[in-house]
Parts: sequence; structure tokens; C-alpha cells
Amino acid sequence: MELHRDIERILLSEEQIKKRVAEIGQRITLDYAGKRPLLVSVLKGSVVFMADLMREIKVDCDIDFMSVSSYGNGQKSSGVVRILKDLDHDIAGRDIIVVEDILDSGLTLSYILEMLKNRGAASIRLCTLLDKPDRRRVSVAVDYSGFTVPDEFVVGYGLDYGETYRNLPYIGILKPEVYTK
Ligand code: PRP
Repeated sequence: MELHRDIERILLSEEQIKKRVAEIGQRITLDYAGKRPLLVSVLKGSVVFMADLMREIKVDCDIDFMSVSSYGNGQKSSGVVRILKDLDHDIAGRDIIVVEDILDSGLTLSYILEMLKNRGAASIRLCTLLDKPDRRRVSVAVDYSGFTVPDEFVVGYGLDYGETYRNLPYIGILKPEVYTK
């Protein structure tokens, strides 16, 4: 497969991702035997992971989506989150799995997890494909993690830079000249 011209190198191939997503799906299937989890995807980066992961989960489940944006000076991950699209489901008493593409500073995620907890969910777990611990500013408990990644500019498989690259089937490292110019 031809590498996108803006990609320096592939960090995680399609095959590696597929294998790991299947493993996580099997783990969730075992952990939620007899339950009906509600998978919550935070738009937009997580949609690709969500679409693949849900097909590896063999218990009945529901899916839902929310869209948020950070408040304040257009600053990403300020920690205060505005809800642009809320969940369709009432989550009281539900077993929630928040499905994320990447855990970075943890600010957005800790806010969302706290908010869901306050709505009376029976349980809340976090499933993230990528974990970038070097960037963490608040600690967040991760229940299912696909890969720990270095502090590099990663795109693809849902992750973007300026809304581009979400459709790449692999996770690649962006060439620095793309984001420094
Ligand atoms: C990414 C990711 C998480 C958040 C994680 O979303 O999907 O929601 O950032 O960052 P944090 O750990 O620093 O809080 P982004 O804001 O890039 O939006 P997108 O998914 O629409 O690309």
C-alpha cells in the first residue's frame, strides 16, 4: 500500500490494529457476559475504532455518540467541556464503556467520565485505542488500552490534523514540515 505523502512512517499497521482490536473485543465480551453495555463514542476521532471494536464484541450492546468541544480561547483540552451533541440514551443504571481513539492530557476524558458518573451509570469503563502517557496532565484510569504511543504527532484510523488523515487505515507519524509550516 502506498504511504500518504505527508506521513513520515507507519507507527501501527492495519494488521497490528486489527489484531489488537480483536483482542480488546474478546476481553470486553468476557467481562460483560450477561450484561448489555452501552458503548459511548466521543466524536469524531473514535468512530473508526468504535466501528471495528463493536463488531468484535459478542454480547448484545447499544451504541451512542456525543460531541464535545473545549471552552476557552479555542484552546484544546482546557479541561472544561461544552456538549455539542449529547447522548440519546438515559444512562442511569447502565454499564458504560467510553470508547476513545486517544488519551492525551486526560482533561477532556476526566471531565466526560465525571459527567457520566453524575448521571447515575451503574459502571463506567474507559477503552482507548492509544494512550500517550507523556502528555498526561490529570490521571485517568484506563480499563482497556490498545497501544501505548510515544509523544509524536499521530494521525490516521480516525485521528486527524486539521480534519485531514482520518481515513488512513493505519496510524502514522506526520512529517514535521506539515504542521510547522
Ligand atoms: C481527541 C480525542 C479525545 C481527546 C483526548 O479529540 O478523541 O477526545 O482529544 O485528549 P485529552 O486526553 O487531552 O483530553 P479531539 O479534540 O482531537 O477531537 P476529534 O476526536 O474530533 O478529532
